Amino acid sequence: MPDQPRHYLMVSDLDREQLLQIINRAMELKKCRKQNFPHRPAEGKTLGMLFEKPSTRTRISFEAAMFQMGGAVSFMPSRDLQLKRGEPLKDTARVLARYLDCLVVRTFGQEIVEELARWSDIPVINGLTNQHHPCQILSDVMTVMEFKGQDLSSLKIAWVGDGNNMAQSWIQAAAGLGFSLVLACPEDYKPDQEILDTAKRQAPSSVKIELVVDPVEAVRDADVINTDVWASMGQEEEAEKRKAIFMPYQVNQDLLSHAKKDAIVLHCLPAHRGEEITEDVLEGDQSVVWDQAENKMHLHKSVLEWAMGLRSE
Ligand code: CP
Ligand code: NVA
Repeated sequence: MPDQPRHYLMVSDLDREQLLQIINRAMELKKCRKQNFPHRPAEGKTLGMLFEKPSTRTRISFEAAMFQMGGAVSFMPSRDLQLKRGEPLKDTARVLARYLDCLVVRTFGQEIVEELARWSDIPVINGLTNQHHPCQILSDVMTVMEFKGQDLSSLKIAWVGDGNNMAQSWIQAAAGLGFSLVLACPEDYKPDQEILDTAKRQAPSSVKIELVVDPVEAVRDADVINTDVWASMGQEEEAEKRKAIFMPYQVNQDLLSHAKKDAIVLHCLPAHRGEEITEDVLEGDQSVVWDQAENKMHLHKSVLEWAMGLRSE
């Protein structure tokens, strides 16, 4: 285990080299898996997963990753912990760190993962907060590299829809990894201005990170088009209002026709067909969402290896 716990709470926690190392290692681990090559560096280790929101992909891909690497998993829905009866986060963090080797957390505010990390002697990994989804973005970039090659700097990546956790992690990834990103979001649903300003300041000078209102402007000649639900977990009561506002941001064949002919479409899933994406685009030739979902498992193995120091360095 490294001297200091290697927390991963947002993309900007890691530098370019670390981000690329994790993604490239995930590609190697994917090959290992395809060749049925046993890889069990986590034997004797236990991953805790503290989840306050539902999850299909993140939960199961982390669990499968840990099991395939020879480790064990303890899944902890927060409603079953003493947290729900008021035990402080700092007590929970210190106790869990005595049992576990790593903790993945899915919750609401970013301050919750920050508080857990502050008090935890083991790595804390953000498995989604209202503000960030940093593991997802790395498997998404891995997917982009598989389809578009390693040189991200020549790509135009578009984000269409809500300026949410996914959008904000994409913004940090654009700055950290060096690719151009244009986001189209409705006026009142923009990403956090501070995250945007910081990313623009930190990005290499050749990299453009732009926020526009017009979705056609964002996807024009884009190589990659990304979208996500219009109402994230915790915003269910806003869903109807948002539908009307976001309809011009639907990723459909018409919008896609403005992108490059060989553009790929990403969606972190779960998708709402007929809302942020149409059935024909989601199931069409340009959609890479199933590979994208698969890559979460390979990427999570790589993050776990890095966080727990399971790789000889
Ligand atoms: N993409 C993603 O995080 O999916 P889940 O909510 O199913 O984990
Ligand atoms: N923005 C979505 C992502 C789901 C994986 C949400 O937070 O619900």
